[in-house]
Amino acid sequence: MHAASSGDLLADRRYEYARAYSDAGDHEAAADLYLQALELVPGWLPALVGAADSLTATGRRSDAEPLLREAAARDVDGLFGTSLKLAALGLAEMPIAPPEAYVRGLFDDYADRFETALVDDLGYRAPWLIADLIEEVQPGARFQRGADLGCGTGLMAEVLKGRVGHFSGCDLSPEMVARAEAEKRYQALAVADACGFLSTSQDSYDLVTAADVLVYVGALDVLFGVVADRLAPDGLLGFTVEEADDGDLVLRDSLRYAHGEAYVRRVLAEAGLTVVALRRDTLRFDHGAPIRGLVVVARHAP
Ligand SMILES: C[S@@+](CC[C@H](N)C(=O)[O-])C[C@H]1O[C@@H](n2cnc3c(N)ncnc32)[C@H](O)[C@@H]1O
Repeated sequence: MHAASSGDLLADRRYEYARAYSDAGDHEAAADLYLQALELVPGWLPALVGAADSLTATGRRSDAEPLLREAAARDVDGLFGTSLKLAALGLAEMPIAPPEAYVRGLFDDYADRFETALVDDLGYRAPWLIADLIEEVQPGARFQRGADLGCGTGLMAEVLKGRVGHFSGCDLSPEMVARAEAEKRYQALAVADACGFLSTSQDSYDLVTAADVLVYVGALDVLFGVVADRLAPDGLLGFTVEEADDGDLVLRDSLRYAHGEAYVRRVLAEAGLTVVALRRDTLRFDHGAPIRGLVVVARHAP
């Protein structure tokens, strides 16, 4: 996350060096420089978060904890994800959803390298896995009106090209939407939260997709309820989740949520959606390790 200036040039410079060390994996050096920045500008939120993260990475959790608590008290709009960080360290209750400002900031920062970083470097496959499963459920299907929730730069639309008559995309991140717009991948785009987008939509959809988005949504009951309201009878919902080994809803150290299969099935059923296909597969890689997930297609029972 790019930080606004602290108002002190030397502190800003320490902070930038700290980030570079952190990116290079030298968390000791990074922590030291973040702490130096804090000596110059006490309470500067970006440096508090950076110091807490670096100290955690070096295993100095007890040193990190007071800094993270101070950061959380200052992170009023949630931009720095401190509520998630506290929960991931077991220092606070798990929120059922991340702060919108955190998700928006994360992807606004990531937008210009999203496709190369994810697809080329991390073997990202979620949109392709969803499209393959839809094809299996309904071979050769064409859809009249689709909604892609958390559309990002528009990979889902690219993969389903020619198969959705009118495809709308929505995303929390203006920068991601700007890239989807430039690629002309959708007939309509909105900078909006998935729930808000669907609940204010006048349209009925025969396809709704959410590729690698629900990891940033958390609890799924409200969203699935709104999806069911807007899905036409027999309409399909295709999505991926990272699979929790244990439990319904788990916040990982990556600050992404994982969901258990039983939870996903239960919340879908409560919304009136029936699972028609569910596969386990590798969604992408993280530091070389496969991230296992569930690929699901559900139908809105008429
Ligand atoms: C990992 S990216 C996936 C983007 C795209 N679906 C793809 O497969 O390439 C997750 C996207 O979901 C968006 N997002 C996360 N939570 C959201 C929400 N509640 N409403 C709308 N978009 C959301 C993020 O801004 C980000 O662009």
